[in-house]
Amino acid sequence: MTGLPAGRKGRVCRRPTGQHVLPAPGAAASDSGAPPVLPCAELHLHIEGTLEPELLVRLAARNGVRLPTTDLAELRGRYRFTDLQSFLDLYYANLPVLRTEQDFYELAHAYLTRAAAAGVRRAEIFFDPQTHMANGVPLAAVVAGLSAALADGSARHGISADLILCFLRDLGAAAAAETLAAALPFREHFIGVGLDSAEVGYPPALFRDVFARAAAEQLQLVAHAGEEGGPEYVWEALDVLGAQRIDHGIRAMEDPRLVDRLRAEQIPLTVCPLSNVALRVVETLGAHVLPVMLSRGLRVCLNSDDPAYFGGYIDDNLAAVRRELGLTDAHLATLACNSFDACFAHDADKQRWKAEVDGYTAGAAPSPR
Ligand code: ADE
Ligand code: ZN
Repeated sequence: MTGLPAGRKGRVCRRPTGQHVLPAPGAAASDSGAPPVLPCAELHLHIEGTLEPELLVRLAARNGVRLPTTDLAELRGRYRFTDLQSFLDLYYANLPVLRTEQDFYELAHAYLTRAAAAGVRRAEIFFDPQTHMANGVPLAAVVAGLSAALADGSARHGISADLILCFLRDLGAAAAAETLAAALPFREHFIGVGLDSAEVGYPPALFRDVFARAAAEQLQLVAHAGEEGGPEYVWEALDVLGAQRIDHGIRAMEDPRLVDRLRAEQIPLTVCPLSNVALRVVETLGAHVLPVMLSRGLRVCLNSDDPAYFGGYIDDNLAAVRRELGLTDAHLATLACNSFDACFAHDADKQRWKAEVDGYTAGAAPSPR
């Protein structure tokens, strides 16, 4: 159904030669006979959204933070959402358990260990400093803990990872500007800025000045748009903020002129299917626009967003779209190559990772079970 878009730069991943089986969630590539895992980059991942109930309860006990319940099943039972805001309410309510550099280290370490098993070679990880600073945590502790985990993830798992600082759009533009000013002393610890939290009512244009300031610091620019907000949010993110990547962007499909632009400029869209279902942005996974996005030649890649809350990590997203949308190995290889093309790593690394996708699709995997 899909082909790689014409005119795409760089090497073109080979189409698969045979059927492959996506590994069971959590299965790691190994030389012990386990199925190989599709290599990919994860570009839309909120580190705060990887806070699994087990770690939540452990950190709450360690830091003397009261939770409404410490029963894991009950906690998981609360992970039912009606929209983005209903999720954000719970997500923010859980975050006071993160207090120390060690807590942030453990959070990111757990994610990177899980991501390595899922085939992630490159992770560009969002963090929300405003939430932690409001909870009384010094930005230095947040940055030090996360950065130490990233260094460890590189040493232990070979994962290349960087941080992207997100502004909470519902706190407004002045707060975003203050946050950037507070973060600039830690400039070498993050590669870009993003825009997240409640979307509708907080259009990208509000953040024009702070994005311009970030651009002047040679920071990469990304923004959530077109998750709950309409196509006009995507236009603004591109034209007013200069966003290089759009996070979600699925509502862009409602505007044919925007689709043409996204295809012509090969602007990456970091789509999060399980998130979209959990937040009822789409009714069912089977109704997701991902296959249409692929068939229109958009540079779309798969991501997990907040995996502890939405039912799975990036490999779970891949398995789900294969199962529910009938995506083939060729589609998955395209998604993986797109993720590498869309990432902010050095070109030589991108080429090396895409060659790994070639190796995967060339028949490294065993025949179907
Ligand atoms: N923060 C964490 N997850 C988010 C999402 N899916 N959309 C907006 N802000 C978020
Ligand atoms: Zn997100």
